Amino acid sequence: MSVVLTGIGELTTNTDAGVLSDAALVLDGDRVAWVGPASRAPDADSRVDLAGRAVLPGWVDSHTHLVFAGDRTAEFGARMAGKPYTAGGIAVTVAATRAASDAELAEVVRRHVAEAIAQGTTYLETKTGYGLTVADELRSALVAAGQVDEVTFLGAHLVPADMSTEDYVDLVTNEMLDAVAPHVRWADVFCETGAFDEDASRAVLTAAADRGLGLRVHGNQLGPGPGVRLAVELGAASVDHCTYLEQSDVDALAGSDTVATLLPACDLSTRQPLPDARALLDAGATVALASNCNPGSSYTSSMAYCVTTAVLQMRMSVEEAVRAATWGGARALRREDEVGVLRAGARADVHVLDAPSVTHLAYRPGVPLTHAVWRAGVRVR
Ligand code: NIG
Repeated sequence: MSVVLTGIGELTTNTDAGVLSDAALVLDGDRVAWVGPASRAPDADSRVDLAGRAVLPGWVDSHTHLVFAGDRTAEFGARMAGKPYTAGGIAVTVAATRAASDAELAEVVRRHVAEAIAQGTTYLETKTGYGLTVADELRSALVAAGQVDEVTFLGAHLVPADMSTEDYVDLVTNEMLDAVAPHVRWADVFCETGAFDEDASRAVLTAAADRGLGLRVHGNQLGPGPGVRLAVELGAASVDHCTYLEQSDVDALAGSDTVATLLPACDLSTRQPLPDARALLDAGATVALASNCNPGSSYTSSMAYCVTTAVLQMRMSVEEAVRAATWGGARALRREDEVGVLRAGARADVHVLDAPSVTHLAYRPGVPLTHAVWRAGVRVR
C-alpha cells in the first residue's frame, strides 16, 4: 500500500535536497518511494493532505536506558535540594530490576517506547546495565531486543557492591560478554569516576570489539576524564555526555568519525552545566542529541525537549539541533543511510508537526507539536 503526503509546508530531508517548501512525500510499504514538489507528486493508493504543516524525519534517539524497574523520585528530589548526582544511584535501579519479572521489565520498555513514538521518535536505541549479573544482563538484552531498533550491552555500568572491580571486569569481559554479545549490536562502558577507570574501560571495550560488537562510551559526564580520548582511539561510533571537554577532546572528536552525543535533559536533571555544542560544531565534530531516558539522571523520552534546550540554551541553531536529533542520532548508530533522512529508499519514518516550520520547536517551548507519525510506513499516531 502506498500513501502520498501532500500539502507539506516545509520538508526537512537531511539530504542534498535540503529543506523543500510546498512538497510531497510518497511512502510505499516501509520505504520512502518519492520526495519532491507537491505539483509533481505521483499517484498513490491513498492521500493525506497536511495543510501546510512541517514534516521532518522521525527523531532518532540514540541513547536510552529503558530496561529498568523502580523509581528514583526521592533521589531526584534530593538533587533538586542540592545533593550532587553520583554514579552510585544506579545501584538502586539494579536492585529493583533484579527483583522484577521478565514480563514487568518488558512492560516498562513497551510503555516508554510507546511514549517516545507518540512524540515523534521512530528509531530507538536502548541499553542493558541495570542487571549486572550474567543472567540479568542477558535477560535485559532479550527483553529489549524485541522492542527497540538497537540494543547496547552496558554490563560495565557500575561495579556491584559485592564484587571487586578486578573480578567484575573479568566477569564482564569473559562470561557476560559471551552470553550477551550474540543478542546486541553495541557495547558501552561508563568511563567515569565512581564507575570504570581508563584501564577497566579499555579492557571492556577491547573485549567487546574482539567479539565483533560496535563501541560506544559514556564519557566526560561528571568531570574531565579519559572517555572521549579512549572512544576516539578505539574508533567508537559515539561518545555520549561530553559535558566536560578539554580543547584536546574537541580537537580529537573533530578529527575523528566518533559522534559527540549530547544529552541536555540529563545535564539539566543532574544540575550539571550544558555541554559546549558550539565548540564541537565550530571545530567540525559531528553532534547528536539524545534523551538518555532513564529513571536516574534523565527521566524524559522527549526529543523535542532536547532540541528546544539545545536551541535556547546551547547556542545551536534550530536546523543544527533538528539535524542532530535525526541525522546525528542515525550517524551515531551508523544507520544514516536508512534513518534520520527522507529520501527515496530510506525507511518511511516521518514526523509531522502541528506547525508550519521546525522553528516552532524552539519558538513554542514545551508545547506538544507532534501531529502525526509514520514508523516504517505504518501510521502510529
Ligand atoms: O547515562 N551515566 C550512566 N548511565 C546513566 C545514568 C543511569 C542512572 O543514574 O541510573 C546516564 O546518565
